[in-house]
Amino acid sequence: MKVKNICCIGAGYVGGPTMAVIAAKCPDIDVHVVDLNEQRIAAWNDVNLDNLPIYEPGLSDIVAQARGRNLIFSTNVDQAIQEADMIFISVNTPTKTYGIGKGMAADLKYIELCARQIARVATSNKIIVEKSTLPVRTAEALKSILSSSGNGVKFQVLSNPEFLAEGTAIQDLLQPDRVLIGGERTLEGEEAIQALHDVYNNWITTERILLTNVWSSELSKLTANAFLAQRVSSINSLSALCEATEADVDEVARAIGQDSRIGPKFLKSSVGFGGSCFQKDILNLVYLCQTYGLNEVADYWHQVIKMNDYQKRRFAQKIISTLYNTVNGKKIVLLGWAFKKDTNDTRESAAIYVADYLLSEQAEIVVYDPKVTQEQVYADLDYLNTRSEERNRSLVTVAKNYEDLFKDAHAVAVMTEWDEFKTIDWSKVYIDMLKPAFIFDGRAILDMQALEGIGFTGFAIGKG
Ligand code: NAD
Ligand code: UGA
Repeated sequence: MKVKNICCIGAGYVGGPTMAVIAAKCPDIDVHVVDLNEQRIAAWNDVNLDNLPIYEPGLSDIVAQARGRNLIFSTNVDQAIQEADMIFISVNTPTKTYGIGKGMAADLKYIELCARQIARVATSNKIIVEKSTLPVRTAEALKSILSSSGNGVKFQVLSNPEFLAEGTAIQDLLQPDRVLIGGERTLEGEEAIQALHDVYNNWITTERILLTNVWSSELSKLTANAFLAQRVSSINSLSALCEATEADVDEVARAIGQDSRIGPKFLKSSVGFGGSCFQKDILNLVYLCQTYGLNEVADYWHQVIKMNDYQKRRFAQKIISTLYNTVNGKKIVLLGWAFKKDTNDTRESAAIYVADYLLSEQAEIVVYDPKVTQEQVYADLDYLNTRSEERNRSLVTVAKNYEDLFKDAHAVAVMTEWDEFKTIDWSKVYIDMLKPAFIFDGRAILDMQALEGIGFTGFAIGKG
């Protein structure tokens, strides 16, 4: 079977870029991306490509190539479902905030709503592709809902998790390490797998397209994120020991990373990992293990999250203790709010939690991030519910540029590794700040020796 019409439900960080790349690489396939969020769809359709809802290097070029040709963004979910022969479900799967599994399990209500809508609307056979990150065996529930329509329409469910990282999404989609497709090992299942394989094969070689059973594919996604986050927590745990012993965490990372069995990537110590997925997916994995009675396995993975919480807290405490055990009324500039560079995404960013600790000590925070808006910073702090919205607004200011940013500040803390922070004129910053002028580098990207030469009192994560 050759796919001619694709629908993707969910026009977020995954659905938007992934479908834009499929449309750009497969001009013979019509790709229809739908979402309930009208504002988001309007932004995807904005003639000014600077207004796309997501900031991602290279995205606007890809959208410009395909939009209006074979890439459509709309809110017409029913029509897109009806016309498609393959439907990607790429909706959000956040951590549950209520009931059984609260704070741990993935909330699958959006996924289930999609399945019910497809079952209700579809009048021809379809291949359903799980693009969202899901607990293992979700395909079973999807199949059960889909097959309940009773109108004779047949569905094949595939798992095709996404491994892109934000900030490098387009590169990751164009040249992925691998594409993973899990499907049923029946004749119909094999046909569906082949159809999806052929879509990707327009630009990705067969050797890089891995085929597995559905459950392995679903579980591999949670496992990949757990392993990646585990590496960050491992190096971050050792950053604390480096600080205590005058070892340098970057030197240790380089020394161990040269061992080809360990490898050099994902060993950059930081103020803590953020992003919408690492924490959510590990909590989901922990919950799954608990559900199967595998408590030792659950505890093992839970430690990755606990270590990350410790790292964020440790960094905030380092600031407080260095500033003579009080930050009350002191101006502290946070450089960066996004969870990593080259994205405007702030979900679970370490900066939010560090700011929250400092605000509880009544610090005055000024935030500067080149891609994050004032509204987003306030929304992130309000979401924690630690203090009133008015109090957040009275203690936190969001700067649009560097003008007067450092004036009379007691301390500066680097939260996100934006390249532009490396080229700030630090001599000028030093003049503007109160003395002693403190700098806390949560990403270890600045030349601390040079800064101390200027007169700063400096601390970098993982440096003795
Ligand atoms: P997102 O919140 O940016 O986008 C999800 C979109 O789905 C939203 O715009 C929402 O309005 C829409 N939606 C929800 N229910 C809908 C419905 N019933 N009908 C139509 N639209 C609906 O989320 P995201 O970051 O794109 O993540 C989506 C999934 O992909 C998650 O499971 C996530 O774990 C996974 N994932 C994310 C990333 C990432 O980098 N963000 C990477 C790999 C995998
Ligand atoms: C991560 C995975 O890398 C993707 O493969 C996956 O598809 C995605 O999650 C997902 O499922 O959502 P992402 O969260 O976008 O991608 O970004 P990463 O580059 O993985 O960074 C995550 C966090 O870890 C960031 O806060 C980053 O600063 C931090 N990090 C990363 C470190 O502190 N040190 C490192 O060495 C690497």
